[in-house]
Amino acid sequence: MNIAALWINRRRLEKNRPPYGKGGVGTFWKLWQVLDLYFDFAPMEGLTDHIYRELHHRYFPGVDRYYTPFFSPTIHRSLTPRERLELPPADSIGYRLVPQILTKSPEDFLWMAEQCREQGYTVVNLNLGCPSGTVTAKGKGAGMLADPDSLDRFLDAIFSKSPLPISLKTRLGMENPEDFVKILPIFNRYPARELILHPRVRKDFYKLPVRREWLDYTLENTNIPLCYNGNITSLSEISQFSARYPQARGIMLGRGLIGDPGMLSPGGTTAASLEAFFEALLEGYLSAFGGSRNAMFRLKEHWSYLLCRFEGWEKLGKRLRKATSLEEYRAVTHEIFTSLPLAPALNPNW
Ligand SMILES: Cc1cc2nc3c(=O)[nH]c(=O)nc-3n(C[C@H](O)[C@H](O)[C@H](O)COP(=O)(O)O)c2cc1C
Repeated sequence: MNIAALWINRRRLEKNRPPYGKGGVGTFWKLWQVLDLYFDFAPMEGLTDHIYRELHHRYFPGVDRYYTPFFSPTIHRSLTPRERLELPPADSIGYRLVPQILTKSPEDFLWMAEQCREQGYTVVNLNLGCPSGTVTAKGKGAGMLADPDSLDRFLDAIFSKSPLPISLKTRLGMENPEDFVKILPIFNRYPARELILHPRVRKDFYKLPVRREWLDYTLENTNIPLCYNGNITSLSEISQFSARYPQARGIMLGRGLIGDPGMLSPGGTTAASLEAFFEALLEGYLSAFGGSRNAMFRLKEHWSYLLCRFEGWEKLGKRLRKATSLEEYRAVTHEIFTSLPLAPALNPNW
């Protein structure tokens, strides 16, 4: 199946789509799950902030839902100005957004979920996958998977009182994927809206191969609607995935979409659309950050994934990494957009 077929299929059925939130029951919903796949843009701290999401949605439509990078609520019970920007009223943005929460405190989770409800959001996501040492050392993110009994108590406390439905984004465990045999039955006890599975353990970080066999295991052992996440970077991989796993209801893409922002758009990724998108991002970050250094720094992070969408990027990539002034940044990126041919698909080097 190519992307045009996916689009036609999805748009044809869009009118009859059950309202999000009534999933899991009814023949039509089951049929829908087989015929259709959701495309979610993964939460990525430092990359998918509100400026990026807004512009990505405008320049490259085709993503069903975006996720915020995680909110880490504190006992202070207030949102910082930056967090407020990341959580605008749900009806003030033109795309669907799911806020993500990272905490091990049920009270903090519930407080944050209430903030999300007040802003008009209809679901919140719990981060059970962040592998960062500072996060797991505090028993948060993937660190929550280390102690299944505490995880169970935490889930009991939040699911019994949450003002919003909860979806879970998880790894398989901290060290050993076999730990998931204990963890999945715990998830199964709660009415999770969705399970987003990144089939790696914490010690794999984002580098080691994904453990696809655990996707099979999960599909066989849960009724929670499943969204797969991990190393999908091209349309042909999406097609292969949807043929192999018709039971999965969605795919969440992270680095693949950062590196190929138009992958899911009807027009695909072109050099001209990329250049316009990156110019708009630069303007957005310049006015948000009030200085060119931070704006450039933010965009260079994107470029570390985007470069391998081009053929023969190595030399200009090196110049871009070394660029210290805005003029230089603009000149090198313009040269990349206008002189390097786009590769047929992303050719990831991560
Ligand atoms: C720079 C960076 C920041 C990330 N930030 C978050 C985050 O805030 N919340 C989260 O759940 N996952 C985060 N992730 C993980 C991604 O959401 C995703 O699970 C991971 O990149 C694997 O998917 P991919 O292979 O499609 O990129 C981050 C990953 C990276 C590389």
